[in-house]
Amino acid sequence: MDRDLARQRIDEISEEIRKHNYQYYVLSRPLISDQQFDLKLEELSRLEKEFPEFLYPDSPTRHVGGEITKEFRQVVHKHPMLSLGNTYSEQDIRDFEERVHKHIGEDIEFVCELKFDGVAIGLTYREGRLVQAVTRGDGIQGDDVTTNVRTIRSIPLKLRGRDYPPEFEIRGEIILPHASFKALNIQREEEGEEPFANPRNAASGSLKMLDSAEVASRKLDCYLYYLPGPGLNFSTHYESIQAARSWGFKVSAYVVRCKTIDDIFDYINTWDTARKELPFDIDGVVIKVNSIASQEQLGYTAKSPRWAIAYKFKAEEASTELISVDFQVGRTGTITPVANLRPVLLAGTVVKRATLHNADVIAELDVRTGDTVFVEKGGEIIPKITAVDLSLRPGGSKSLVFPGICPECGTSLIRREGEVAWVCPNETGCPPQIKGKLEHFISRRAMNIDSLGEGKIGILFDNKLVQSPADLYELNYEQLLGLEKLYKGEGDKKDRVVKFREKTVVNILNGIAASKTVPFDRVLYALGIRYVGETVSKKLARHFMSFDKLRTAEPPELTDVEEIGEKIARSLRLWLETPGNITLAERLQNHGVQMKFTEHPVAKKSNRLDGMTFVVSGVFENFSRDEIKQAVEDHGGKNVSSVSSRTSCLLAGNNMGPEKLRKAESLGVRIISETEFLKMIE
Ligand code: IVH
Repeated sequence: MDRDLARQRIDEISEEIRKHNYQYYVLSRPLISDQQFDLKLEELSRLEKEFPEFLYPDSPTRHVGGEITKEFRQVVHKHPMLSLGNTYSEQDIRDFEERVHKHIGEDIEFVCELKFDGVAIGLTYREGRLVQAVTRGDGIQGDDVTTNVRTIRSIPLKLRGRDYPPEFEIRGEIILPHASFKALNIQREEEGEEPFANPRNAASGSLKMLDSAEVASRKLDCYLYYLPGPGLNFSTHYESIQAARSWGFKVSAYVVRCKTIDDIFDYINTWDTARKELPFDIDGVVIKVNSIASQEQLGYTAKSPRWAIAYKFKAEEASTELISVDFQVGRTGTITPVANLRPVLLAGTVVKRATLHNADVIAELDVRTGDTVFVEKGGEIIPKITAVDLSLRPGGSKSLVFPGICPECGTSLIRREGEVAWVCPNETGCPPQIKGKLEHFISRRAMNIDSLGEGKIGILFDNKLVQSPADLYELNYEQLLGLEKLYKGEGDKKDRVVKFREKTVVNILNGIAASKTVPFDRVLYALGIRYVGETVSKKLARHFMSFDKLRTAEPPELTDVEEIGEKIARSLRLWLETPGNITLAERLQNHGVQMKFTEHPVAKKSNRLDGMTFVVSGVFENFSRDEIKQAVEDHGGKNVSSVSSRTSCLLAGNNMGPEKLRKAESLGVRIISETEFLKMIE
């Protein structure tokens, strides 16, 4: 086929596929069979391979994924991503409605919508093409997850029609429908991974995966509900989201306009029941003032708009009998009492266990075996006990006794000063604690060995292959292939055996090998030293530059480091003096793990910022506030404390106040993230 013809065919077939995607994923009204659709996609994919010059960023084949994200860049939101005031109380809804009337007058129209329980996302389109997708983050800046978001089929890469603004942002929620959530958790269990607690966690975890092909396989979905910012020609919110629908976005069909408080409560009550029939989770409804002019009049508080409110559904509650209490040992040695209950139906699932949190909660509730208790499902998978029905307490019951020794290893429990939890101090000999340390070691922000998860670590530990993080680097193919774990089936589920197959083993070994390039500060964090979190690890790593230097540092030298106090210094010394820890560090070093910085992590000095003034605000990942200010000066820039029209850049960190941001926005001052700043001085 010649190039012109190929290009023509690519355009034609892309258009066709887009149409079918829209029909299938947005409207749920497919016009052709899945096979017919796959054939078209295959043809396009073939042509793009043959003529890579015509593989466009908005090609429908991009939904399949394949690109790898190395690092999620931090991006400052053009309009801060505010949250909504939310409430469980009907009175608050009445008050909201009255407040709006007082400010705007009698004739108000509201819009009621579902409150999707997922991950908020801001999508930017330029000339009808998706150019950026950013998570909420702290509301001021979030993670750039564009590559992953491109794989979501209901999100158009190219818009329909022509009447969309040349550049705009649209906000919505990425969700994982129940069916995909169930399938994903079954697959995870088969692969020896811990299942996700709920669809929201699964959606958020999926968005942060590095391999976009994996993300594509998770079958995420996205509903859009808001177009922020001035400059769009709509007089009402309702109109704006209907327009968004016509551009190809998935907009909920259950958006209604209403006038009276009774209409609002009708909507709330309908959905409090009807939500159980939806194929995805919602956690409430959102009520918005429809007129954009009225929205502007009502304005914003520091955190949320005054023109909208969220009504959250109450967690469902059930009552049942408390049969017994187990005392579980967590990763850090904390003992958590967990109640075994007579099975009871709650929010669609059978509940058999519930957390009792700690000894104080047990004492406060004075809960006893044989009691009838109330259980409630919060956001997490484990429900909690909220109260005891004393009128049903059987005679002769006795208060529960909290154990004095660790149920896993028999060590006497301790309670640290000022803390409520009872803890098993046997850090190096208590199995759940050893496993917990390994899990921390491989976690994303530490060594980031994502081919191993909680389940696989458990299998390695149970098979006595791994006790210490250093053991990971001594594993080989033969040891891993064929390892298995038996999952006991419950109820009508059969027992299942999970086996490490070749692909799994290769992935695990590659992941472990790749972790040898993880920089020293994260290795330090991965060691799991008490009080040495990410920030402290960075400080220590930068100051001492190598483990060998840190190892010999005495307390005065440690507390000289910015933000390192007595408590951290003591914990560090204790760790360094505990037999075994130095051996661990040496073994890691011998295996090629980074135990020192190979180059200075701070950029070299330059005159890149000559003549520029900066306002630094918030908290940063790689620098303390003083360090980042120093970096500004090191490169020729000047620091000032407040934003004015003469400010060149607002350097926005995490948790900065929205006022500075608004001021910068209104004065047209450039707002940059830490990543952008690093680029400027690179
Ligand atoms: S509107 C400025 N509409 O709930 C207001 N938000 O607690 C923009 N959410 O951050 C938000 N469903 O992530 C809006 N129909 C809906 C929503 C919704 C879910 C989320 C959103 C927001 C959070 C507020």
